[in-house]
Amino acid sequence: MTTTSGLAIVTGSSSGIGAELARQLSARGQPVLAIGRRAHRLEELSAQARAASHAPIHPLELDVTAEGAGVLVRDRARELGGAAWLVNNAGTTRFGPFLEGDPAEQAMLVRLNCESVVALCAAIVPDLVARGGGRVLNVASLAAFQPTPGHAVYGATKAFVLSFSESLSVELDGTGVTVTALCPGPVTTEIFDAGAPGVPRKKPPFEISAEECAAYGIAAADRGDVVAIPTALSKATAQLARVLPRAAIRRLSSRIGLSFLGYGGLPRGARG
Ligand SMILES: NC(=O)c1ccc[n+]([C@@H]2O[C@H](COP(=O)([O-])OP(=O)(O)OC[C@H]3O[C@@H](n4cnc5c(N)ncnc54)[C@H](OP(=O)(O)O)[C@@H]3O)[C@@H](O)[C@H]2O)c1
Repeated sequence: MTTTSGLAIVTGSSSGIGAELARQLSARGQPVLAIGRRAHRLEELSAQARAASHAPIHPLELDVTAEGAGVLVRDRARELGGAAWLVNNAGTTRFGPFLEGDPAEQAMLVRLNCESVVALCAAIVPDLVARGGGRVLNVASLAAFQPTPGHAVYGATKAFVLSFSESLSVELDGTGVTVTALCPGPVTTEIFDAGAPGVPRKKPPFEISAEECAAYGIAAADRGDVVAIPTALSKATAQLARVLPRAAIRRLSSRIGLSFLGYGGLPRGARG
């Protein structure tokens, strides 16, 4: 049993980093259970894998925040021979001041970015342990390392994913199951349209592609790295957040956080 064999569950496979993770895992021979709400996108991904004679991509149309989603995914994975990888990638953001945001959307961010990760780990990780090994790849963010005024809930959810992943990695020591928190800086995907629809954004020169991000995440999970931060600039940013006083970090983050993501400044109340 190698780390690069066996079914990979990938949430949020219908676009961006998740679609690339699914493509790359399938291209190297791992069957994929591709999860998202946009079924047509998952079907396209599946057809591409078939046309390229890659390992099959099995679409599963599912809202991962739905009641019982973890058990449903676990049962489908068992039907397909059992999971070797769990990739918790589904996530989204909302930009704008907290008090101008829609409370229902803020709550949805927590359910999607945090609660679904916990529910899926609770449902799937026991099977990985029973199998004697596996990989959990949780997509956090560089936003996990500092407060993120202007998208306050998002940064907090990603800090949760980072902390949870690190703790779980320690608890699973000796089981053969590793947990990796992937913490990318800006990646070119649809997330910015979802987070601030219609708000102009200038792609920063250091932004990476979804392909690069996915390849980095897969290699890190293969190695069993616990925290994986693509690019030297992002690594330095995370390091800075560890050594500077919290007050300095808050000031820096509120001054340059949104321009780091390519926004000149968000109109007040901008949100998806
Ligand atoms: N792009 C960046 O700069 C960046 C940086 C750091 C971290 N990240 C993280 O990377 C992950 C992927 O985001 P992305 O940038 O690739 O954005 P994206 O292109 O918007 O992809 C988000 C994915 O999540 C899925 N999703 C959203 N809500 C869902 C739900 N309730 N149930 C199931 N699937 C759901 C979407 O599929 P459906 O809409 O079809 O359900 C989509 O496939 C997120 O966790 C994000 O926080 C992104």
